[in-house]
Amino acid sequence: MKRALITGVTGQDGSYLAELLLSEGYEVYGLVRRKSKLDFGNLEGTEALGKIHIIFGDITDMAAMLNAVKISQPDEVYNLAAQSFVAQSFREPVASANITGVAAVNILEALRTLKPDAKYYQASTSEMFGGCIDEQPVGFDGYIEDSPFHPRSPYGAAKLYAHWMTKNYRESYGMFACSGILFNHESERRGHEFVTRKITSAAAKIKLGIIDCVELGNLDAKRDWGHSKDYVRAMYLMLKQQKPDDYVIASHETHTVREFAELSFKAAGMNIAWQGSGTDEIGIDTDSGKTVIRINPEFYRPAEVDLLLGDPSKAEKILGWKREISFNQMINNMVENDLRIVSSESR
Ligand code: NAP
Ligand code: GDD
Repeated sequence: MKRALITGVTGQDGSYLAELLLSEGYEVYGLVRRKSKLDFGNLEGTEALGKIHIIFGDITDMAAMLNAVKISQPDEVYNLAAQSFVAQSFREPVASANITGVAAVNILEALRTLKPDAKYYQASTSEMFGGCIDEQPVGFDGYIEDSPFHPRSPYGAAKLYAHWMTKNYRESYGMFACSGILFNHESERRGHEFVTRKITSAAAKIKLGIIDCVELGNLDAKRDWGHSKDYVRAMYLMLKQQKPDDYVIASHETHTVREFAELSFKAAGMNIAWQGSGTDEIGIDTDSGKTVIRINPEFYRPAEVDLLLGDPSKAEKILGWKREISFNQMINNMVENDLRIVSSESR
């Protein structure tokens, strides 16, 4: 029986990955940070929670990581823990650097010391490409593994450090260390502060009369969105290979936040018409004539990543990875799920 250690097991990806590895017969260990109130996040209410060995610890604590490796004796380690909210990283740049960047070295060092033959997965991100769209050639068809990096946030910069350290441990010590450069992926388990879940949850609440309107920031940002369930499968496949390497995982489609909002409201049974521009732009429900979307500059970022588009050809060819859940399907699933949650909460 293979043994896997997952940091960030209570998060969106961690919970889906734990379920996948359990279904593949793994013994799964999950690192959970202790809070004043015990909280298993996305694992709450899942069957997986009863099957995972929980190890309490914070990834910024080297001793805790040595302890986690010692207890779990992992064949595979998936480092998913992070302060993953880009907007928050501008407000907490040092904590973001420590948790999202430096802490990866705690794990790599713990493995080098105690379990050097373990395979390591680093949760790298398209945010590392950030603002380098202007540096791309005409006919740009998506970032690949060798595209230049230009992080535009403390989060992106921290992830880039962890990304290079992962390569470094591979090249210096011959460790099986991989980075998955994953583009945005969402799901019914996505945190409510991320734009997708914020929109699907608001669309459900507006539809059911719980709130009147949602406030958003930059509607023109473009993202390459896929579903988390498809993306955790790619992580698993990366550690199944003979050789460690880095892979872009993306849908190879890009959509604006505006488009995401239109489709989400449509899935909840409302059509949006846009009026005005800039901070005065509003989204109106064409049936009721009510304003359901407004702009609040509070949600603008000090620096924006305008466009993300990834080319997953290498992963498709070498890992045999293919996404199964389309953009539209993902939105429909998320809205349906939020309608269910909101209607049961309001009963
Ligand atoms: P998420 O839902 O925010 O999960 C983050 C996890 O990290 C949570 O389990 C959180 O635990 C844990 N964590 C945070 N700080 C910690 C600490 N100091 N010690 C131990 N655990 C800590 O993120 P996600 O969407 O699943 O993403 C998983 C990973 O992939 C992250 O590293 C993220 O940056 C990266 N990534 C995500 C995407 C995406 O679009 N989702 C794309 C590219 C890369 P709590 O429950 O205690 O908060
Ligand atoms: N969160 C949020 N809230 N974002 C908004 C809003 C809003 O009200 N209005 C517009 N946006 C725009 C943001 O400015 C950004 O351009 C886009 O929506 C997506 O924002 P998020 O959903 O917060 O995600 P992200 O792209 O910044 O980061 C996510 O994807 C990265 C991969 O590219 C996170 O999951 C990161 O952890 C991940 O690495």
